[in-house]
Amino acid sequence: MEINKNRSLKDLNTFGVNATTKFYTEIHNLEDIHELLEWKEKTDLPTLLLGGGSNLLFVNDYQGLAAKICLSGKEIVEADADATYISVAAGENWHNFVRWTISQGYAGLENLSLIPGTVGAAPIQNIGAYGVELADHFYSLQAINLENGDVLEFNKEQCQFGYRESFFKAYGLDKLLISSVTFSLPKKPQWKINYAGVQEKLKGLEPNAKLISDAIIELRQSKLPDPKVIGNAGSFFKNPVLNIDQWEAIKANYPDFMGYPQSKTEIKTSAAWLIDSCGWKGYRKGDAGVSEKHALVLVNYGNTTGKQLWSVAEEIIDSVSQKYGIILEPEPRRLSEN
Ligand code: FAD
Ligand code: EPU
Repeated sequence: MEINKNRSLKDLNTFGVNATTKFYTEIHNLEDIHELLEWKEKTDLPTLLLGGGSNLLFVNDYQGLAAKICLSGKEIVEADADATYISVAAGENWHNFVRWTISQGYAGLENLSLIPGTVGAAPIQNIGAYGVELADHFYSLQAINLENGDVLEFNKEQCQFGYRESFFKAYGLDKLLISSVTFSLPKKPQWKINYAGVQEKLKGLEPNAKLISDAIIELRQSKLPDPKVIGNAGSFFKNPVLNIDQWEAIKANYPDFMGYPQSKTEIKTSAAWLIDSCGWKGYRKGDAGVSEKHALVLVNYGNTTGKQLWSVAEEIIDSVSQKYGIILEPEPRRLSEN
C-alpha cells in the first residue's frame, strides 16, 4: 500500500473543490486492506473511505488518510428459479456495472443508470432514482470492520435501508469498509416506467431494460448538470418527509406544493420546489451557486471552496425555513472537522 503525502483532492470529488488530504492511498486488494488495518493501529489519525467522491463536500483540508476503494471484479454467484445473484467489488463504477448487467441480459437496475460513484458507496445512502432504490435488488454485502479486521456479512434486513439512509450511516462512517455487494436480479422483471418523463420517452415502445436505461440516461442528462462540466454532487438536500398536517397547512397557501404519500401519515415533498420558490435557482456568489438547470443542485462555477458552497447551503436552509418552517437536511457528507 503506497501512501502519498499532501495530495490534492480536486480530482477526487465531483464538486472539484481543491482541498488537500494529509495522507492518501488506494485499496486494490486484500493485502492493501491488511496494511490499512496495520496503519490504523500505528497512528491516531482518522481514515476517510473514498469512492468516486460524488457525495462529499470538503469544507476543510482532510487531516487523516483518505483511502480510495479500487477493489475490482464481479461474478455471477448463483441462479435459482426467481433470480440471478451477482457479486461485485466495491471499487467498480456503479453505472458501468448497471450497463454490464443489462448487456448480459439481467434486468432490475436500469432505473439507477447514470448515478455517479462506486458500487461500495451505493448502500451507504441506499441510492435511488425514478421509483427504484438499491434496496429493491440488494441481497447482501461484505464489509471489513476496520477496528479489528473482522469480515462481516450483512443481509438486507441488517442494512436497515431507508430513504437515503442505512445502518452504515447510523453505525458510523469509515468504521466498516464495504468490500463487495451482491444483487438479486429478478428473472421476471417488473418495469417501473410510470415516472414523469420516463413514460413519455417510452411511448409506443415495448419496454426492456436497455430501452429504459437509455431513456433514464437521456432524462438525467437533460435535467442535471454534468459534474465533468460543472462541479456538483447531485441533489444537495434530501426531499423533506412531512406529516400530513404539516403538508396540508403549507398546501393551503401554496396549491402547487408537491406531495407524494410515503406512508399513511407521511408525505414526501420536493426540496427543489421549496428552493426554487424562494428564488435560488441560478443564484451565484463568486464561484459558488445553484444550478440554472435544477434548484436542488449546488454547483462550483470554477474555483470555489467547500466553505463557500456550505455558506450558500446555509443561506438556502435559512430562507426555506423562514418561508415554510421546513429545515432542509443536506444529502452529501460534509467533511469539516479533523
Ligand atoms: P463517495 O462520495 O466517495 O462517498 C460517499 C460516502 O460513502 C462517504 O461517506 C464515504 O466514506 C462512503 N464510502 C464510499 N465507499 C465506501 C466503501 N467501500 N465502504 C464504506 N464506505 C464507503 N444519489 C442517488 O441516490 N440518486 C441519484 O439519482 C443521484 N444522482 C446524482 C447525480 C449527480 C450528478 C451526482 C454528482 C451525484 C448523484 N447522487 C445520486 C449521489 C452519489 O452519486 C451517490 O451517493 C453515490 O452512491 C456516491 O458514490 P461515491 O462512490 O462517489 O461515494
Ligand atoms: N422542481 C422545481 N425546480 C427545479 C427542479 C425541480 O420546482 O429546478 C420540482 C419539479 O416540480 C419536479 C420536482 O421538483 O417535478 C422533482 O424534481 P426531480 O424529478 O428532478 O426530482 P428530485 O426530487 O429533485 C430526486 C432525487 C434525485 C433523483 C431524482 C429522480 C432526492 C434528494 N433527489 O430528485 O437524486 O435522481 O429524484 O428520481 O431524493 C441525488 O440524490 O443526488 C439525486 C440526484
